[in-house]
Amino acid sequence: MLNSLRVCLAVLGLGVLLSACADDGAPAAPPSTAVVSPAEFQALLAAADPDKGQVLFLQCRACHSLEAGGANKVGPNLHGVFGRKAGLAPGYAYSEVILQSSIVWSAATLDEWLARPSDFLPGNRMVFVGIRSPGDRANLIAYLQRETGAKP
Ligand code: HEC
Repeated sequence: MLNSLRVCLAVLGLGVLLSACADDGAPAAPPSTAVVSPAEFQALLAAADPDKGQVLFLQCRACHSLEAGGANKVGPNLHGVFGRKAGLAPGYAYSEVILQSSIVWSAATLDEWLARPSDFLPGNRMVFVGIRSPGDRANLIAYLQRETGAKP
């Protein structure tokens, strides 16, 4: 009797422990706004896999097209975005904060934008929480470079 009680308590303890562990890994924490150093980012980008980025782009696809002459959707078409000032996709009605900004899109500025758009440019209208992993952002940016006609 006492023994089985002990076992029960042990199982209960394990359960608490397990759920505590599960909480640790839960995606409750907000995405990191910390962007890695330029050198680290360059290294990540050099090793990036655009095919992995293609999968990550599923998060963007409802709102953005990438091909030349593609439609503006909820968000602007992104063809030619690298090296271009923010807010210049033809025929798209941007928010004032984008239009007033002096951002020029590069791998580095996109990395900060995609980490958390609302921190990078408060008040913009892109409803997207951000991508937490710097490696994921690098893969996605490599895919964007490939698909939007970025010059190497
Ligand atoms: C729910 C729709 C939505 C999603 C999802 C979304 N975007 Fe956007 N995006 C927008 C909107 C809207 C704007 C314009 C924001 C403004 O005018 O303030 C924008 C703007 C941008 C811009 C600036 C374009 C320019 O011409 O200046 C880039 C780059 C961009 N998004 C990339 C992405 C990427 C990459 C993803 C996926 C990780 C993504 N967006 C996900 C809606 C979205």
